[in-house]
Amino acid sequence: SRTLRLAVIPGDGIGQEVVAEGLKVLSSALPADVKVETVEYDLGARRYHATGETLPDSVLDELKGADAILLGAIGDPSVPSGVLERGLLLKLRFAFDHHVNLRPGKLFPGVKSPLAGDPQIDFVVVREGTEGPYVGNGGSLRTGTEQEVATEVSLNTAFGIERVVRDAFARAQARPRKKLTLVHKNNVLVHAGHLWKRIFDQVAAEFPEVTTDYLHVDAATIFFVTQPERFDVIVTDNLFGDILTDLAAAVTGGIGLAASGNINPSGAFPSMFEPVHGSAPDIAGQGKADPTATVLSVAMMLSHLGYTEQAAAIESAVTADLAERGSLTAPRTTSEIGDALAARVAG
Ligand code: IPM
Ligand code: MN
Repeated sequence: SRTLRLAVIPGDGIGQEVVAEGLKVLSSALPADVKVETVEYDLGARRYHATGETLPDSVLDELKGADAILLGAIGDPSVPSGVLERGLLLKLRFAFDHHVNLRPGKLFPGVKSPLAGDPQIDFVVVREGTEGPYVGNGGSLRTGTEQEVATEVSLNTAFGIERVVRDAFARAQARPRKKLTLVHKNNVLVHAGHLWKRIFDQVAAEFPEVTTDYLHVDAATIFFVTQPERFDVIVTDNLFGDILTDLAAAVTGGIGLAASGNINPSGAFPSMFEPVHGSAPDIAGQGKADPTATVLSVAMMLSHLGYTEQAAAIESAVTADLAERGSLTAPRTTSEIGDALAARVAG
């Protein structure tokens, strides 16, 4: 028998509610001989107000021993913008070197896209997770004066680009369509953009079966809406990837369905799985949040940990549930959706 040591960070707002359903579906998916040992960490707005801490070193140390981390959502209007995002969520991604931020954009059968026609959308965004403008390489000068200056310098290293580009090529190679699109803005961001393009072209030579494409990020947003079928795997930097994956969620049935994995492919530190959505304080505590994004993130976690069959079972359950949602007459609560998914997984 095996034990899965899972660190759980419900976080703020609807985080608590959706994570509970994710865990429910997880236990119904795992074989009887796999035990889940969950340790829940109280991090987020409540702890910040109580102690001033966002992510103490002692907690960070403990988290290192987990097989994976499941996170709900971070952020609360009572905390100044950026404190929890930088001090907790991004700190985890950076400390655990989550350089592959995997975000599928898939339109499930029966799910209504706001896009015209009946688009076939099935791509995955490989968002770089540890560099770009997210590193905090900036500052303010002459704060509060009319001459105030603020910088936010994007950090791009050959090492960081190459490893994520290589990962994206490998993913593209493993998919039926074998297509990889690099998204950047190298007509304006000539320093970082050309470095990305040069490394992309170099690595491409090692993957002759993969068809490659390049798009400026502004053009990519057009194609996300007008021709989403053209995408298979997309690789891009941290900020472009953040923006594009919200758009991806919007065109594939909304943020309630969008899953993500912050992956450390080497396994040196635990990978972390979380819905793309935020804490949604406006609907928190009302049982209105859709836990599907978290449930799909749990499936990504299982697949990452090698439980391929169990991950597929969760995906099938979600696929079947989504196909029937259109015919439901009344909205379901968060836990009703979780129950339905868990029941389907249990078969
Ligand atoms: C996301 C979020 C985060 C990000 C924020 C909350 C730091 O928007 O996971 O997409 O920008 O990466
Ligand atoms: Mn985002």
